[in-house]
Amino acid sequence: MSGPELHPDVADLGFLLGSWSGGGTGRYPTIDTFSYGEEVVFAHVGKPFVSYAQRTWSVPERRPLHSETGYLRMAGPGRPELVLAQPSGVVEVHTGTLTDAVVSLSAVLVGRTPTAKEVTAVERVLRVDGDVLSYRVRMAAVGQPLQDHLEGQLHRTGVRLGT
Ligand code: HEM
Repeated sequence: MSGPELHPDVADLGFLLGSWSGGGTGRYPTIDTFSYGEEVVFAHVGKPFVSYAQRTWSVPERRPLHSETGYLRMAGPGRPELVLAQPSGVVEVHTGTLTDAVVSLSAVLVGRTPTAKEVTAVERVLRVDGDVLSYRVRMAAVGQPLQDHLEGQLHRTGVRLGT
């Protein structure tokens, strides 16, 4: 069964659609460097947004680590927006640019519940080359200046256009 057509407002994000799997490396001055596995799904329902769901686990123990879920929108050609919620009590609101298959985002708002760790800035860059998605996440958190937290690479495991 074929799903709805991708909404024209988010047609330029079509290269993201599908299921992705892989992993990455995390680091921060305050913690030990770690490896993680990761699954991501970008999907759509024919409305002007692309949904994003991610989960990660420790390697090799497969202990659940971070997860996050949100939506990508387009404010206009080449102008992506992202809203994102995390179970750690952090929400991110980003604006950015889309050039070719590179999405560069910078948080205009980082919101935290009263018990969340202090995160004050987040930058995300995500690029797709065929069926390979690589990304970097930088953050300013727990008193440290903006710097790398994550670097990951995912491979497209399937195209799933609906939810
Ligand atoms: C692939 C996604 C991610 C993974 C696998 C991951 C994993 C981890 C791990 C294993 C730690 C150290 C243990 C811990 O405190 O729980 C950590 C710490 C932390 N992470 Fe992440 N993280 C991810 C994404 C994020 C994002 C997107 C943010 C913020 C926007 C974030 C913010 C933090 C903070 C604030 C700490 C605590 C640093 C400290 O207390 O010294 N993480 N992360």
